[in-house]
Amino acid sequence: MQRKLDLLQRKKEAALAGGGDTRIAAQHEKGKLTARERLTLLLDPGSFEELGMLVEHRCTDFGMDTQQFPGDGVVTGYGTVNGRLVYVFSQDFTVFGGSLSETHAEKICRVMDMAMKNGAPLIGLNDSGGARIQEGVKSLGGYADIFYRNVQASGMIPQISAIMGPCAGGAVYSPAITDFTIMVEESSYMFVTGPNVVKTVTNESVSAEELGGAHTHAVKSGVTHLTAANDLEGIQLIKKLLSYLPQNCEEKAPVLPFEAGTEYRPELRNVIPENPQQPYDMRAVVSGIVDADSFFEVHPLYAENIIVGFARIGGRSIGVVGNQPFSLAGVLDVNASKKAARFVRFCDCFNIPLLVLVDVPGFLPGTDQEWNGIITNGAKLLYAFSEATVPRITLITRKAYGGAYDVMNSKHIGADLNFAWPDAEIAVMGARGASEIIFKKEITSAANPAEMLSNKEAAYAEKFANPYSAAARGFIDEVIDPAESRRKLIKGFSMLEKKATRLPQKKHGNIPL
Ligand code: HXC
Repeated sequence: MQRKLDLLQRKKEAALAGGGDTRIAAQHEKGKLTARERLTLLLDPGSFEELGMLVEHRCTDFGMDTQQFPGDGVVTGYGTVNGRLVYVFSQDFTVFGGSLSETHAEKICRVMDMAMKNGAPLIGLNDSGGARIQEGVKSLGGYADIFYRNVQASGMIPQISAIMGPCAGGAVYSPAITDFTIMVEESSYMFVTGPNVVKTVTNESVSAEELGGAHTHAVKSGVTHLTAANDLEGIQLIKKLLSYLPQNCEEKAPVLPFEAGTEYRPELRNVIPENPQQPYDMRAVVSGIVDADSFFEVHPLYAENIIVGFARIGGRSIGVVGNQPFSLAGVLDVNASKKAARFVRFCDCFNIPLLVLVDVPGFLPGTDQEWNGIITNGAKLLYAFSEATVPRITLITRKAYGGAYDVMNSKHIGADLNFAWPDAEIAVMGARGASEIIFKKEITSAANPAEMLSNKEAAYAEKFANPYSAAARGFIDEVIDPAESRRKLIKGFSMLEKKATRLPQKKHGNIPL
């Protein structure tokens, strides 16, 4: 027996050694952790159970038969994060650059299948040179097997991708299908074609970092939801994100203990500036409403005119979507619509109620927006809210103009409770623009056109720049003192906790993609 145990021990040690000390040292020199070090930080101590530790590749070409590293460049298995089950894979760059072989892909697919069967999140730590070049099409097939499973798992279990090294070529499509992507600054990049190909095809000179680094994807493309200064911070972000999520689409997110006090927040009365044209930070409204320090913003650097993120209210997880007057006056544009639509759909998949904070002057005009499909993209957000069956509460803090009023979780598209602050202006457009159109003749023929415009504007504002027309129709359930917002929302979400709505029976809808 001892001989057999010794053999087992030697095999395990070979797997634990990865690509060897030199390659591990090279990984550390780049400021990166190894696949196993990352898992140690992610998972609760002693909770990791590895699967497929001794799997070896089956390639015999290009001298590969003489090169075997047990585990084949990816560590897979399951463990717990804060006591909750998760499935993981962590690519090992020290073994063939973390490249994906047929067997490497099989190991990933196995944990994906188990995650789906057992209803627990899947976390992928990506650090790979892409398809194992020596294996050709077998490796491409392996990628496709993963993509297929990403899609099967979508909406069933949360899927989180951390990019902690290279992620290039078709490999990028697995993270892209998953729910959240986190990139580590300076050590990770994602692109479909790298700088050399870009130079050849378009004659553009661009560095890997500029083309597909963490900052680029956080700000320009929106491909990554979060960035981290290093691997450790990236892993902490994964843990934080998980804390707001349920294990799967059948469950609800964990509820933290909460004891209600007065929940009165007088400081919210001072958030909206006297001048309706003056911006303010919608995050101040969020933090005045949600449980202390619970707001976890995602996608903070992309389409900053809308904010999205998770928070807790009365201990329960919620998703927050809010127009951001600080950026482009909170207008809805192509990117803001796409960002918010995907977030709303994520929350709806995973039973996370939605709080929608509205201060929106409308959709952004211009050729750029029209030619980039503000029609189709704006429709995504309208569609996402309309099909969401989770509890949905809207609070209009100031402007709710035009089509954007409808889109931003109005009562008409299925919101459960709609509140407005006394500053709210719910109208087709702002008083000045409206007066210029409907009183054009009177203004141009007046002895003093400026004075006439100002009078008409005041009259229009008196009639429509308030929440009361909407409240009189029942489109707003209650106009509330800002100080009462938190209390009203805690009660509202609690009342809606058992909400059960089903969409009409169909195969699936056809969201305007
Ligand atoms: C096999 C690979 C590999 C790969 C790296 N290695 N990528 N082995 N297949 N795809 C090996 C290297 O030979 C080297 O082995 C070790 O990993 C480390 O690589 P280095 O080049 O020394 O590291 P570094 O300088 O950090 O550069 C990393 C890199 C580079 C930028 C990722 O290795 C690279 O460009 N690799 C090829 C990337 C690529 O073209 N992949 C295919 C993309 S197409 P030794 O033994 O020397 O340590 C693709 C299609 C997917 O992925 C399609 C899905 C649908």
